[in-house]
Amino acid sequence: MDPRPAGIDRRLREVQRILAVTGGKGGIGKSSVASVLALVFAEAGMRTGLLDLDLTAPSDHVILGLDGCFPTEDCGLEPPLVHGIQFMSVSYFLGQHPAPLRGAEVTNVIIELLAVTCWRALDVLVIDMPPGLGDASLDLVRLLRRAEYLVVAGRSRVVLETVRRMLRFLSDSGVPIAGVVENMARVESAAVKELAQQFHAPFLGALPFDATIDDASGDAAGISRTALAAALRLVRDQLLRFGPSHLPPRS
Ligand SMILES: Nc1ncnc2c1ncn2[C@@H]1O[C@H](COP(=O)(O)OP(=O)(O)OP(=O)(O)O)[C@@H](O)[C@H]1O
Ligand SMILES: [Mg+2]
Repeated sequence: MDPRPAGIDRRLREVQRILAVTGGKGGIGKSSVASVLALVFAEAGMRTGLLDLDLTAPSDHVILGLDGCFPTEDCGLEPPLVHGIQFMSVSYFLGQHPAPLRGAEVTNVIIELLAVTCWRALDVLVIDMPPGLGDASLDLVRLLRRAEYLVVAGRSRVVLETVRRMLRFLSDSGVPIAGVVENMARVESAAVKELAQQFHAPFLGALPFDATIDDASGDAAGISRTALAAALRLVRDQLLRFGPSHLPPRS
């Protein structure tokens, strides 16, 4: 028997709500959405955490700007406060080095990170999920027993097909889908909304393509002035209105 999932549950017991940001496709904006969503949750006075679980390409620290902070050790590893957000990422330990990990090693690092991180009380923990449906994502769906999923989509056919697969997987796994957003929207289109409806998932809106995002990266105040942040405030408000999606607890 693996004792670690129960240990992970214990580490997350002070966390009211876990929102895992995913999307079938690489580069669709998961990290941008996760980081900026965490910022706008914190800005609304919510106790917010952000966990970057993309081991191969951790990015949230680049988007938020870290300012040299590092986890401290007490009951485990305590995530430092970054712009009011409890933030944990492998980027603290990797620096600019790559993490050349294979299959089971990836899962082990993720489990270790979840098992040692000591979150203080949180209203919401946003998780930037690894891309795609590889081992790491499959393991996380099993390990994060209370997570709800926010799916980042786009309207191109290639993206839609991949996101459809992700929605099918989440739905077959019986996990709650908190909502679907369309990212980098340039023209009005009902395609993502229709896809969400097919899976009975709330469509939470379109996030505009915002050319200022890249320049604002690393500057939290600048990020919070972008059109992406404005759109994510509306997404945040809907997530708070709906409350956690309730499904029977998974074993
Ligand atoms: N709404 C947006 N408008 C303009 N650019 C955006 C938007 N969202 C994300 N981007 C840009 O798209 C690129 C990919 O975004 P991001 O890294 O967040 O995607 P990702 O899904 O996390 O990628 P990966 O699969 O590699 O982890 C980045 O350069 C980011 O700045
Ligand atoms: Mg990413």
